[in-house]
Formats: sequence, C-alpha cells, structure tokens
Amino acid sequence: MCGIVGYVGAASDETALGVVMEGLARLEYRGYDSAGVAVLDGDHVEVRKRSGKLANLRADIDARPLPPTATAIGHTRWATHGGPTDTNAHPHRGGADGRLAVIHNGIIENFHALKTELLAQGAVFSSETDTEVAAHVLAAEYDRTGDLTAAMLAAVARLQGAFTLLAVHVDQPGVVVGARRNSPLVVGLGEGANYLGSDVAAFIGHTREALELGQDQVVTITPTSVSVVGFDGRPVEGRRYHVDWDAAAATKGGYPSFMAKEIDEQPHAVADTLLGRTKEDGELVLDELRVSEDALRAVTKVVIVACGTASYAGMVAKYAIEHWTRIPCEVELAHEFRYRDPVVDRHTLVVSVSQSGETMDTLMAVKHAHELGALTISICNTHGSTIPRESDAVLYTHAGPEVAVASTKAFLAQITACYLLGLYLAQLRGGTQADTAAAVMRELREMPEKIQTVLDRMERVREIARFMADTRSVLFLGRHVGFPVALEGALKLKEIAYIHAEGFAAGELKHGPIALIEPGQPVFIVVPGPATPHELHAKVVSNIQEIRARGARTLVIAEDGDEAVVPFADEVIRVPATSPLLAPLLTVVPLQVFALELATAKGLDVDQPRNLAKSVTVE
Ligand code: G6P
Repeated sequence: MCGIVGYVGAASDETALGVVMEGLARLEYRGYDSAGVAVLDGDHVEVRKRSGKLANLRADIDARPLPPTATAIGHTRWATHGGPTDTNAHPHRGGADGRLAVIHNGIIENFHALKTELLAQGAVFSSETDTEVAAHVLAAEYDRTGDLTAAMLAAVARLQGAFTLLAVHVDQPGVVVGARRNSPLVVGLGEGANYLGSDVAAFIGHTREALELGQDQVVTITPTSVSVVGFDGRPVEGRRYHVDWDAAAATKGGYPSFMAKEIDEQPHAVADTLLGRTKEDGELVLDELRVSEDALRAVTKVVIVACGTASYAGMVAKYAIEHWTRIPCEVELAHEFRYRDPVVDRHTLVVSVSQSGETMDTLMAVKHAHELGALTISICNTHGSTIPRESDAVLYTHAGPEVAVASTKAFLAQITACYLLGLYLAQLRGGTQADTAAAVMRELREMPEKIQTVLDRMERVREIARFMADTRSVLFLGRHVGFPVALEGALKLKEIAYIHAEGFAAGELKHGPIALIEPGQPVFIVVPGPATPHELHAKVVSNIQEIRARGARTLVIAEDGDEAVVPFADEVIRVPATSPLLAPLLTVVPLQVFALELATAKGLDVDQPRNLAKSVTVE
C-alpha cells in the first residue's frame, strides 16, 4: 500500500529520475491513486506529482522535463488521508522554505494533534494528508539539528502509528534518509549507488543485493555508504541477502497482463514450493522452520490467520490439517482474531499466511499471538518482509514475484505450503498419520502436471466468460474444500470484473441463498470428486438439481469421468481426478481464468483494479 523508491548516485550520475520512475513502475501494484517524485537540483528541491496512474506523471515530466540529478525519491499512492488529488499526492515539502521533501507509506495516528500544534506555530499546509504533518515536524527538527538523520530520529519519536518515511534536503545533496515502523522498507546495495524501496522490485533492475531492515530503524544512504541506527540512535547491522529472482521475472514476458502470466506460472509456483522439501525416500524435511520437533509435537491447537485470498488458502488448510493430524485447527480473518479475546496459549501454533508478508492486519495478529505466548509460523512469499521477521519461523512459498493485484499463483503456492506444514505435523506424530503423509506427498508431487492439464483446457472457459461479459451477478457454490474455492472464485470476479458475486457452502443454499436463484442466474458449482467421504459428491449433485429446477444456468467444475453431473449441467468444466483434499489446486484455476477473461472482455485493467492495492499496510 503505497510504493516508495529512493536513489543516490555519485554527483556526476544523472540517472536518478530514470531509476526512480522505473522503480515506481514496478511498485505501482502497491497503489495507483497518484504518483510523484522529488529531485534535488542545486539549491532547491523540485517536486512533481500527479493524481491518477504513473502514466499521468510520466506525461507531465515528458512535457516539462525535470533537471538531471543524482538524488531522487518517488512515490505511488493508495490514498488514506485526503482524496486522490494532485495536492494530496506525495512528495510533500516541509518547513517555511520548502527545502525538504518527504514521501510516506502508512498512517500517522497523532497527525491531528501535531497539525494543531504546528498551525499554532504558523505552519502552512497545502494538503489534507498526515504526510505533510510529518514533513513539517521533520523540517522543524532539521532546523534544530542541522542534520537529516538526526532530524529523522527526533521526528519519529514524535510520530505515532505505522509509517515508512523517506526524506531529502537540499543542504545534503547525496543523501536519502529513511525510517520504518511497522511498514516495509528495504535497502538495495549498488556499486557507487544505493537504493531504498518498499520491496526489492523497486531496484531489481539494478541490483539483486539487498539489506533487510528491522522495525524502528533509521537508514541513511549515500552513493558509497549505508548506515542503520535504531530509533534509540544506536548503530545496528542489517541482514544482507541475495534476491533469488531478477528483473525479467517481474515483467509481463509477452503476456497481455501480469495476471495472465501469473496464472500460467502456477504449475511452476507449486513445483518450486515443493522443491527440496523431501528426502529421496519421501520423508519431509522442513529444516528451515527452525522450530524444535518437540515444540511442534506439543502443539494442541492450530490457528491460521490471514486476509483476502490468503485466508481462503487457510480455509483449505483447516480441512487438510485436521484430517491429517487430528489437531483442532481454526482459521480466522487476521483483523477479527486480533481484536477479540482468542483462546491461545504456548501450545497453540498460530500460522499466518501472507503473500506480501506486509499485510498490517496479519502482522498485528501475529504480534498479538506472540504476546499471548503462541508459537508463530509464517507462510510467506516475500523474503525480507515484516511478518516472517516477527514470527518464530517461516516457511517460504516460491511463487516468484506476484505483481497483479488479484492473487493467483501465490494462492496455489500458499495452499501447497499449508499442505507441507500439515503433512510435516502428521509425520512428526508418527504411526498411521506418518503413512498418510507419505502417500499424500507422492500425490502432491503430481499436482504441477495436473494444473498444467487444467490450463491446457481453458479455451471453453474463456468462451463462456466472453459470452457473459454483460452478466450482473454470478454465484459460486462449493462444499468441503470446494467451499473456499467458491469464495475465491467470487472474490476474483469482484476484484477484477466488478461484478456482484457470492460464494456459498452448497449445503447452506437451502437455508437462504436459494431465494436468489431466478431464471438464467449463472451459478458455478465446484463438485467434490466422487471419492470425497460422506457421500458429499451425491449431495452436491442434488444441490445442482435443486437450483437447475429453479432456472439457474449451471456451470459445473467436475472431475474427469464424473458422469453423474452431466444431466444437470449447462456446461461441464473438467479437471483431472485427484484425492479430495488436494482438489483446490485444480478447481480454482478455471475460476481465475473465467474472472480474467470476463474482466478483459469488459475492457478493464485486470492488473490494477480500482480501489485496491496489493499490499495493504494499514489496518
Ligand atoms: C489485499 C490484496 C489481496 C490479498 C490480501 C492479502 O487485500 O488485494 O489480493 O489476498 O491483501 O494479502 P497478503 O499479501 O497478506 O497475502
């Protein structure tokens, strides 16, 4: 939520604006309400900003070029305080002389009190943002200390809330200073140049060497140095790491959208997430978890916390983990978990699932679980992000960078990692549970190929989607692990096609939602495989008959060879047969493709849907 880039090159280096604009293009998925840059030019700081997408800023700069410079910062915004206007866009200047510029991600909770104080002292504000308040506080501290790092340390002591701030000042040309509290910031280490970014995508075109920052730290970069101190002023060492993907992975690679590319990458995302996690005899090894086997054996309850798509991965995990381990497992939206009074103790394993590793709601839930004494494991796709750092252990998904706001390949990788964790817990418990784990592991290894088979069959789904471009409402039904798949199918359609969509547990239909069925109402039904226990298959087939009898248009996702659905289906979308708990890795794919194709047919921007941001770093 909001993307931040900073760059400092040698004095003779005039590429700063280009580097920052390129970084903003890669970070635009984090918010696209407005974009802006500040460049240092001799004795003044030039700020240029425009509401709307980055293209508006680019056009403005093309029409009125900015001076070449070696030091620049840039921002792409997801609006919180103040609407998405030119004046509310970042950067904001601070102080009476406006010689300092600031960009910000997060929310400064005490901005109102600070603003009142600053107004009384004669400060003049041009925007409605909390950021401009931070800019004035920082400028006042700069006037007092004469040094940007010292000013930042003094300013953050007065700010409450969650924030990443970057600042430049005309008196310190080769310097960018950043600060982070509960909001992301990483350092890119270059040769004769250094970078700051909300995530590594900001500088991946220039360096793959990065430095992880901790919470409550201030970083100062010059062309040749990076120094980090805690908010208490004491020097700290950041952790260096190498980014295991390159700029090519973050481009569309010939696809019309990132989402189309990422859907196609799903077999790889699942395969890479499985890679290196079993011995030759099939035994699972999750050494990277760095939690003692005894601690995991002592777990009496699992609680999964997540938001959005990740929470549906958690719902799938609940079915699997309870079945394989017999350990009670709950799944809860992170923002609900945090603010009730959950029953959690040191034998509770709290698993957070997050693609970005930055979702504030999930981060707060993890911190709360920690305070309550729980063991915390993060399932995450982004190295160097905050949630893994705040957790006792991390199991990384290896989906590669996900750029489209609507999550696809990260979802499949999250489900896969949840399976691995569940199977590992089962293996640790030994006996028949360990045997089950070994059998499931064998099947899991076949899933990338089966996902590819589903992708190869999507032509008819695309046709159906194009035909339905004017549809106003679509319902999704599922049962067992098909229920979270139905919820995800509905979410995808809402997110990118702006169509009213609802997902229901198929068994719940008769308790209310069936009243929505009228002639022609399209309904997707995710049918459990015939091998699903408790005759669930037959029960869902009955549900299909019930809605068809009331005029619904039934779009049925069913396994190869499942002939029972045919008489009641207007369309049958086939997926390869698999064991019931693994089916979500297959059945969700047609729903992703459906949403993508329908949104494309409506002429919408599928990668950057309105009002959304990929990484939601406010509560
Ligand atoms: C936002 C995104 C969703 C995502 C959710 C959780 O709402 O728009 O696509 O599922 O955040 O994100 P996370 O990074 O924690 O998986």
